[in-house]
Amino acid sequence: MGKIKVAVLGSTGMVGQRYVKLLESHPWFEITALSASKASVGKKYGEAAKWVIEGEMPESVRDMRIVSADINDVKKEGTELVFSALPSEVAHEIELNMAEAGYMVIADTSAHRMDYDVPLIIPEVNSDHLSAIFEQRKRRKGIIVTSPNCTTIGLAISLKPILDNFGIKRVLVSTMQALSGAGYSGVPSMAILDNLIPYIKNEEEKVVRELLKILGKYENGFIPANIKVGASCHRVCVLDGHTEAVFIETIDKATSNEIKECMKKFKGDPQHLSLPTAPINPIIVREELDRPQPRLDRLAGEPERARGMAVVVGRIREEQALDNGIKYVLLSHNTIRGAAGNAILIAELLKAKNII
Ligand SMILES: NC(=O)c1ccc[n+]([C@@H]2O[C@H](COP(=O)([O-])OP(=O)(O)OC[C@H]3O[C@@H](n4cnc5c(N)ncnc54)[C@H](OP(=O)(O)O)[C@@H]3O)[C@@H](O)[C@H]2O)c1
Repeated sequence: MGKIKVAVLGSTGMVGQRYVKLLESHPWFEITALSASKASVGKKYGEAAKWVIEGEMPESVRDMRIVSADINDVKKEGTELVFSALPSEVAHEIELNMAEAGYMVIADTSAHRMDYDVPLIIPEVNSDHLSAIFEQRKRRKGIIVTSPNCTTIGLAISLKPILDNFGIKRVLVSTMQALSGAGYSGVPSMAILDNLIPYIKNEEEKVVRELLKILGKYENGFIPANIKVGASCHRVCVLDGHTEAVFIETIDKATSNEIKECMKKFKGDPQHLSLPTAPINPIIVREELDRPQPRLDRLAGEPERARGMAVVVGRIREEQALDNGIKYVLLSHNTIRGAAGNAILIAELLKAKNII
């Protein structure tokens, strides 16, 4: 059977480049269309993309001509599936047009994440939410499935085994987010070198509402989780990898060792284990006092195809200042697990479930 032909919208950006790298020699998907802004249309990918991620640009895309995000341009290339890494300002309409025209759209953008019939998926955590697709199919030919905000994904993965084993009453998170999270031209070097910026527009609101949707239920509609969540988000001078200091109150008392054990055992739904981009262990627990660190741990995950897909958790300890308090530090790669990698894993899950 031939590979599924995919288009990447926003292919020259931080997330777009990750797609290009992760889809290189993917066993199930093949890139047939690369799209970017008007300024790039018609140029070869090798000229239009300022390649900034580790490793070489794949030879297979270097000479591909950039097309516009117009439905007809994407269609000409025989596209069957669309990955969207567009800026949020333009994503809403373009993603909707693609889905109305019958495409399966998997989006890293925030445009449709909170729509009442659009699932917001982390395959290991809430694949049951894909039932919302059947509701969506009543109103359009295609489907939109969304991947959460890069800060929310690592946090939700780390919380899922705790929620399942002990219940969670409250979550407080303080983030230290990488520069690539703001896109290629996001934060000027003069603003961030020797500095930290204690504000990321709309980020705290996204973390709270997305986390509640993901950890909630889908029963003919989304029912948010009954957890109190607070977030403080900060930009730091790190290239890739978001670090988060997490404080939680569990419903049933748990020791730090019990939390470690449930995180180590966590696999998610067994169906995911056979997916090409699925990490064998979605959570890696480190015992060293000074881990996780972005430079050392952001590419964690096995097998090879799942590098950057594992969430690394360390410094798990009890917190006496909270009721049934636990605190830990997590790290996840924002453009791999936090964006393109998670979206590709969603696509693999949809294929494994015969939805595409
Ligand atoms: N960065 C992350 O860690 C991360 C994580 C999760 C989700 N996201 C989301 O993913 C999306 C992309 O983020 P990014 O960081 O990759 O941004 P980026 O580096 O700024 O890249 C934006 C991409 O969109 C293209 N583009 C810009 N304006 C366009 C237009 N009017 N029509 C069509 N294409 C256009 C750009 O093409 P040109 O090169 O031609 O300008 C570029 O390919 C955003 O919605 C972001 O919120 C990002």
